[in-house]
Amino acid sequence: MRDARRAAAAAVGLWTISLPLGLSGCGRDAGGFTPSGQPAGWDDGVRLSSAPDLNADPSIVEVDLEARLADFNFVPGGPTAAWTYNGLLPGPMIRAQVGNRVIVHFKNSLPEATTIHWHGLRIPAAMDGMPDLSQPPIAPGGSFDYDFVVPDASTFWYHPHADAAAQVGFGLYAPFIVDDPAEPQGLGDEVVMVLSDIAVNDDGTLQSPTASGDLGTLFGREGNIFLVNGQIRPTLKARPGLPQRWRLINAAKSRYFQLSMAGHSFVRIGGDGGLMTAPVTVAQPVLAPAERADLIVVPQGEPGSDVVVQWLPFDRGFGATSEPIQDLFVVHLEGTPVATPPMPDVHRDIAPLPIDGATQVPIALTVDNPAPLELGINGVAFKNAAPLMANVGDTEVWTVTNTFEFAHPFHMHGFFFQVLTNDDPPVPVAPLEWKDTVNIPVNGTVKFVVRYDDRPGMWMFHCHILDHAEAGMMGTLMLMEPP
Ligand code: C2O
Ligand code: CU
Repeated sequence: MRDARRAAAAAVGLWTISLPLGLSGCGRDAGGFTPSGQPAGWDDGVRLSSAPDLNADPSIVEVDLEARLADFNFVPGGPTAAWTYNGLLPGPMIRAQVGNRVIVHFKNSLPEATTIHWHGLRIPAAMDGMPDLSQPPIAPGGSFDYDFVVPDASTFWYHPHADAAAQVGFGLYAPFIVDDPAEPQGLGDEVVMVLSDIAVNDDGTLQSPTASGDLGTLFGREGNIFLVNGQIRPTLKARPGLPQRWRLINAAKSRYFQLSMAGHSFVRIGGDGGLMTAPVTVAQPVLAPAERADLIVVPQGEPGSDVVVQWLPFDRGFGATSEPIQDLFVVHLEGTPVATPPMPDVHRDIAPLPIDGATQVPIALTVDNPAPLELGINGVAFKNAAPLMANVGDTEVWTVTNTFEFAHPFHMHGFFFQVLTNDDPPVPVAPLEWKDTVNIPVNGTVKFVVRYDDRPGMWMFHCHILDHAEAGMMGTLMLMEPP
């Protein structure tokens, strides 16, 4: 929405970056560069492991996942026993094509119960990993097979939904990419980057997920170590002038990521639910917890020089902007500059959902009890809440009101929505995009429209500052077949 507002003011040309012209010596550099022209080993510093596909059928992706502890060295004082999928942090990337069936044989080797939630995927409620609502939590030593068809192309992710603030904070998250072969290819050499943080003590042990008590919960606990694909300040190599496509996921349990790359801007082509109706130029993209951004960047600079991508504090409330700027990762320029190829037309056609006759759903984010702290939705904490009711086929306009001095990233399970303006009548924020998580700013109100397709069942919605969700800022929606 922030991006879209900027876009409304400044329409985007395609590549509008002027290039230091000259030497485009692909041939001459053969050997030291990939077929596309990126420096050899360009993404070695950040490349993620993928889960091996155990199924020979090209329309089925079948993987084994095990949640278990594994040691990492984040601080000199000692190892950190992080919580991982398959011993990796982030966990292994799952990659499928639209329409594929995905089967995940999951085993829980953690010391506590867990589930996997497939964030953003429009799959049946029974596969959505909501503890007690869609499945009993998977006990230590237990297992569960997830099995669903992936209907949409985008950058998604997966994470636990039991004791989620602790478990996600300890390292349980991973990317899930769905490709649509019918969408434009060749948008630049692609790298998937999971942005997160982890809270560790000087001796490497994990900080308590209840550190600082209610105050910690109210602020939303942030980690003290910034991670990009599990690495501290890794290096990505780039050929000056050659586009790269960065698919970013904010997997932190509370932290917002506002990015800055000196001398560069980004072309955002998509987000949570795939490509937008038009690209937008963004100087400093912001990802609230759980949001994704699909960015094209054209790295520029002297061969041999470095450009650092930095984390900037974002005003998510009380004191958040006093945090110091941090380095996230380094882009190391290598090779003779090349002329940037023209950008293909990248967009998805999205029809605005009609809002005439839509049911109005007011949602207030609330504090239900100051001490011990209980947060809620419409004045009721999750544990006491009755589900909202709706029917398959219904269209609803949700108006989410935040009277806090803190921002809240609001997430709806199972269905994409379109964010609306606060005009009367509201119109979709342009360019259009499908979203599953939207930031509700400090003292702000955000409207969105959602239409329920034919996946009845119990669904969740909540703040994606996971400390807030666990403290009660969460609710359920009972979706029924129409009578
Ligand atoms: Cu990533 Cu219930 O959410
Ligand atoms: Cu919140």
